[in-house]
Amino acid sequence: CGIVGYIGKQQAWPIILKGLKRLEYRGYDSAGIAFVSSNGITSYKKAGKVSVLEEFADGKDQTGTVGIGHTRWATHGEPSDKNAHPHFSGTGRLALVHNGIIENYAVIKETLINGGHSFLSDTDTEVLVHLIEDIQQAEQCDLTEAVRLTLTQVVGAYAIVVIDKEHPNQLVAARKGSPMVIGVGDDEYIIGSDASPIIEYTKDIIYLKDEEIATITPDSIEIRTVDNEIQTPFVHRLELKLEMLEKAGYDHFMLKEIYEQPRSIRDCLRGRISPSEGTVQLGGLKDYDEKLKNANRIIIIACGTSWHAGLVGEYLIENYARIPVEVEYASEFRYRNPVVSEKDIVIAISQSGETADTMAAIELAKSKGALILGICNVVGSSITRLTDGGAYTHAGPEIGVASTKAFTAQVTVISLMAFYMAQLRETTSPTVLKELITELDSIPTLVEKCLATEEATKYIAEEIKDAVSCLFLGRGTGFPVALEGALKLKEISYIHAEGYPAAEMKHGPIALIDDELPVVVVATKTSSYKKVLSNIQEVKARKGKVIAIITEGDEKIKKEADFVIEIPDAHESYLPLLATVPLQLLSYHVALLRDCNVDQPRNLAKSVTVE
Ligand code: G6P
Repeated sequence: CGIVGYIGKQQAWPIILKGLKRLEYRGYDSAGIAFVSSNGITSYKKAGKVSVLEEFADGKDQTGTVGIGHTRWATHGEPSDKNAHPHFSGTGRLALVHNGIIENYAVIKETLINGGHSFLSDTDTEVLVHLIEDIQQAEQCDLTEAVRLTLTQVVGAYAIVVIDKEHPNQLVAARKGSPMVIGVGDDEYIIGSDASPIIEYTKDIIYLKDEEIATITPDSIEIRTVDNEIQTPFVHRLELKLEMLEKAGYDHFMLKEIYEQPRSIRDCLRGRISPSEGTVQLGGLKDYDEKLKNANRIIIIACGTSWHAGLVGEYLIENYARIPVEVEYASEFRYRNPVVSEKDIVIAISQSGETADTMAAIELAKSKGALILGICNVVGSSITRLTDGGAYTHAGPEIGVASTKAFTAQVTVISLMAFYMAQLRETTSPTVLKELITELDSIPTLVEKCLATEEATKYIAEEIKDAVSCLFLGRGTGFPVALEGALKLKEISYIHAEGYPAAEMKHGPIALIDDELPVVVVATKTSSYKKVLSNIQEVKARKGKVIAIITEGDEKIKKEADFVIEIPDAHESYLPLLATVPLQLLSYHVALLRDCNVDQPRNLAKSVTVE
């Protein structure tokens, strides 16, 4: 789901179309564009990819210097041409694109229907644009005021952009809970759900804040709040290069991002560790040293892959900093009346910094007085603005929907946080910390070696590509690796996959094992090595097909397993940074063999801004 808007001196169509392609990575199922000129509003929308829309509009009128575009990820109403955005007001005077969910749309819809409105789609969005026009007519006000009054009646999350055929030289945009950034060019403005549609035109960005409304003409922008207070826009300079949004010769963004990991982990460590002194510095935490020293408990909240990074954090923080940790799915946490107090520290992990459930969980913990720290990848994203402190992952834009380099960067940051807290609390000896930090400094080089497993993963992918289901097992820090390996496989190849703690296998999944079931086991030389070896034997005794991730040169498991992937030896705290890499490559190659859309898997969205 993504939004693009353009107003300025250039033709809007190509800029919006390209912008929507840049946002494709966020996941969507239909697309549409509308533009306005003195001849009125023209709109094209289609279910399917942006390329379908492009073909459909080929040869048709595309002239206009003001327009809005949208990629939709269905919430209310199936993906179809009629449900695609933009949606129109009753008289067709206004067109609007919207991300988010209007929770009270049913009540508003009923009132509007009673007032004589009829609707063409099943979406909550159409209700919104009808209401804006209704208010505009009733109050005889301008579009900005009509949008403002409408938003005072709306419950839910939104990022919207509206055009008005009576005033073809303006865009009105607003947001609450859904991201929106505005690029400031030379007599032009480009709106995007993130900066990717914008950066080839300008690096000057305004982050619209929650409950702000922007009225934009080619040479002016005015921002007010829903309470009608005028705001002074703050222009940020963005340090993002266009190359970061392109494939750089790789077949897919996912593969490029897997290969970027030595670099992204190195960037994440830069300036934060001193191997010679054995210390960690985290600028975004230092104001909270006292709180961290005396913390009672840490609650990590996240969704999806970021939640897996949280699980790694639990092992490391408990082990080195000796603070009890709970790792929570944001969506469960927010709805279950959790016990949180001002003595707790919440760490929210999110690649996008926009996940709706994670944001709501943060707000809840904040209202109970907890200190909130963030681990985010997208600079300036909503979560970074909601948190009290934290650390960026610095992985660069992640375009592939299935998270790869963002995960390893999250794990790197949470490791740094664990060591930072251990250092403050003196719960781990300086000598041990120094050894760990020195080894961490060499992890990027070891990750590079893990990339050399690609040939082995290609071969194994051939062997498992027709499996119906796949089991991933691990213990200790190998357990989150198993979960993440399973998630990657199911996300992009659509093979059912389940990650399990290896010892728990006998309480259920063992019933699934037969000669058809591939079982991927994280079996490197850690403190649980012998136990994992027994688990492998249990699988083999039931004729399961074992694919083991092993420490280089481990002859013993080579004899037991059907296939092995060898990775360099490292401290078990760093296993997730290394063992995840071949599992990412394995999923990638299985997905390729199954002809799946690796970068944009069906039904998934990169940034889940609805709950
Ligand atoms: C979506 C993405 C996942 C991601 C999850 C959490 O499901 O497809 O890759 O792990 O959201 O997103 P976040 O941006 O909060 O890390």
